[in-house]
Amino acid sequence: MALLEVQNLKIYYPIRGGILSRIVGYVKAVDDVSFTVDKGETVGLIGESGSGKSTIGKSILGLVPIHAGTILFDGEDITKHIGKNRSPYRKSVQMIFQDVNSSLNPKKRVLDVIAEPIRNFEKLTKEEERKRVDELLTIVGMSPENAIKYPHEFSGGQKQRIGVARAIALKPKLIVADEPVSALDLSIQAQVLNYLKDVQEELGLAYLFISHDMGVVKHMCEKLTIMNKGRFVESGLSQEIYENPEHIYTRRLLASIPDIDPTKKEENSQKRAVINAEYESENKNYYDENGKVYDLKRITDNHFVAKL
Ligand SMILES: Nc1ncnc2c1ncn2[C@@H]1O[C@H](COP(=O)(O)OP(=O)(O)OP(=O)(O)O)[C@@H](O)[C@H]1O
Ligand SMILES: [Mg+2]
Repeated sequence: MALLEVQNLKIYYPIRGGILSRIVGYVKAVDDVSFTVDKGETVGLIGESGSGKSTIGKSILGLVPIHAGTILFDGEDITKHIGKNRSPYRKSVQMIFQDVNSSLNPKKRVLDVIAEPIRNFEKLTKEEERKRVDELLTIVGMSPENAIKYPHEFSGGQKQRIGVARAIALKPKLIVADEPVSALDLSIQAQVLNYLKDVQEELGLAYLFISHDMGVVKHMCEKLTIMNKGRFVESGLSQEIYENPEHIYTRRLLASIPDIDPTKKEENSQKRAVINAEYESENKNYYDENGKVYDLKRITDNHFVAKL
């Protein structure tokens, strides 16, 4: 049984109009997607801005209403637990938020930021709590003295690590990591990714790793799901997708990864031009007459693509 199983999930945001502010239509932010995350594995959810990635992440935490579909965690339908803050589910699943600056309360010391989820679930003495926070800071490579400081005293990379420490405070089974490194410098990105991997090994954690950048997730994810306009265009084992991308949208995302080798600049820009031309000429094979992504079809045991 998968740790997380999402089946036929639909999340539609209402569009209101007119003086009575009636619902005049829906933004289909997530339109019939299914996937699983197994214990201890990392599944990448990749797509451009607005494709619906954060919406899926938030739905797993019960932070947005679901239009249709089911979300099973350890075989249990979690939509029933939404709103029950102290249910075991809320302990097992945590989120690292996309915008670290707004997700860390500036008025709280690091100690209180990290201890907050612990206080919701466990009765620890002040000394026990401080010891746990010190351990968590050490795991993410920060010195325990930082516990008495405030979030603004830290760099982006350090704030992100504080976010990681808070997310792992309750030893969850699954972390939804929403663009955990995209706001960081390249050098620091690698550091935070390494911490995420170390913590994963230590705790047997699973990640749903959200990113717009196929370069960032390359060494993180066993499985990948590529998302476009609220639908999945391709999914399967990372290696198969990197080696043999089938959907034109995936190929375009891959071509947009910047190459650090300056001698390849010309070659890469030519490659991008070819793929962009293909995107136009072969569009009908990948999108129906309304521009909707087709349903996924199996092409090998470990590789699915949404193609005519
Ligand atoms: N609360 C909301 N009300 C109405 N529409 C929303 C709401 N939140 C998101 N949307 C819309 O749903 C779609 C998906 O948004 P979402 O934030 O999930 O995208 P994303 O893939 O996370 O993008 P990004 O990479 O920019 O973070 C977008 O069209 C967005 O405008
Ligand atoms: Mg997002």
